Amino acid sequence: MTRGIQPKGARITGIGHYLPERVLTNFDLEKMVDTSDEWIVTRSGIRERRIADESEAASDLALNAARRAIEDAGVAADELDLIIVSTVTPDMSLPATACLLQSRLGAKRAAGFDLSAACSGFVYGLTTGHALIAAGRAKKILIVGVEVLSRILDYEDRATCVLFGDGAGAVVLEEGPEGEGILGTFMQCDGSLGELLYVPGGGSRMPLDAQRIAERQQYVKMRGDGLFKYAVRAMVDAARSTLDEAGLQLSDIDYLIPHQANIRIIEGVRKRLKLAKEQVVVNIDRIGNTSSASIPIALSELRDGGTLHKGDLVMMVAFGGGLTWGAVLARY
Ligand code: UT7
Repeated sequence: MTRGIQPKGARITGIGHYLPERVLTNFDLEKMVDTSDEWIVTRSGIRERRIADESEAASDLALNAARRAIEDAGVAADELDLIIVSTVTPDMSLPATACLLQSRLGAKRAAGFDLSAACSGFVYGLTTGHALIAAGRAKKILIVGVEVLSRILDYEDRATCVLFGDGAGAVVLEEGPEGEGILGTFMQCDGSLGELLYVPGGGSRMPLDAQRIAERQQYVKMRGDGLFKYAVRAMVDAARSTLDEAGLQLSDIDYLIPHQANIRIIEGVRKRLKLAKEQVVVNIDRIGNTSSASIPIALSELRDGGTLHKGDLVMMVAFGGGLTWGAVLARY
């Protein structure tokens, strides 16, 4: 501590999520591509996922989740200092979805920016928010993970379209006493493996034209087996790093909220962290992989279920395109 600046703690004080109404089941997908309910369930654990209505964009889903989190925190929108939106499916490339949300919430004093870290985005957002609060640069931050992945999925590619869904989750992070709330954070990436999960078209490298659209370059491309290889180890390493930072043990964890990419990855992480099944939040069967929305949705559902209590130690850990991975350890 230098020059009298005291590091501040950051606590999650509000949680909310929103899922679009439309359900797309594995049986619906059987009619669209060469797949089966049996293959999807055994390989991924997914039975159904939610798909946004044509009229719904990322900021619409985000607004619903954000309103719930703000109300839950008992914070007025104009008290927010910052809005961080994690997404790879923004409404548009400019302006940021965080700015669209700022306006619709009436968060008059807030700054806002989008963060792109794929499935690790919410954990990256929490880490960023925590650092800004600890440094005394903000007191109340809204962090949203939102994805409308159905807009960038190729519904002719069975290797990807069966895995992902749409949704949004949000938390309010507020300044609190040091040593409470978020106790450990970790982020890392390896861009040399970026082509395991990417969208080639639509950026400055490959602007879309009729030919590229015909080649389906605007859609997600994924090498699932390649990702699988790294996922468990990266998530376990990230989780252990946050425990080390906090000076805590695996046995101190009450709940694990892993990114919901695949039930087999979740199980692999659970076993290596020596946790019981009841300690792990799983909703992949109903919601699929919602990328950066998956952890805040799962956190929100855990809280709504009534089993998350004040003082519980929650490990949130993610892995995704980039590659990116990271973890946040927080006392609720
Ligand atoms: O969100 C973070 C980023 N995402 C991930 O971390 C995803 C990580 N990866 C995975 O979850 C798994 O690798 C998948 C669920 C994507 C696939 O499971 P897998 O056990 O690794 O299967 P695979 O990729 O080795 O594919 C096995 C077979 C292939 O057929 P051949 O070549 O063995 O004849 C695929 O063509 O399954 C085939 N296949 C399908 N069959 C029926 C691929 N997708 C489907 C499908 N339905 N939807």
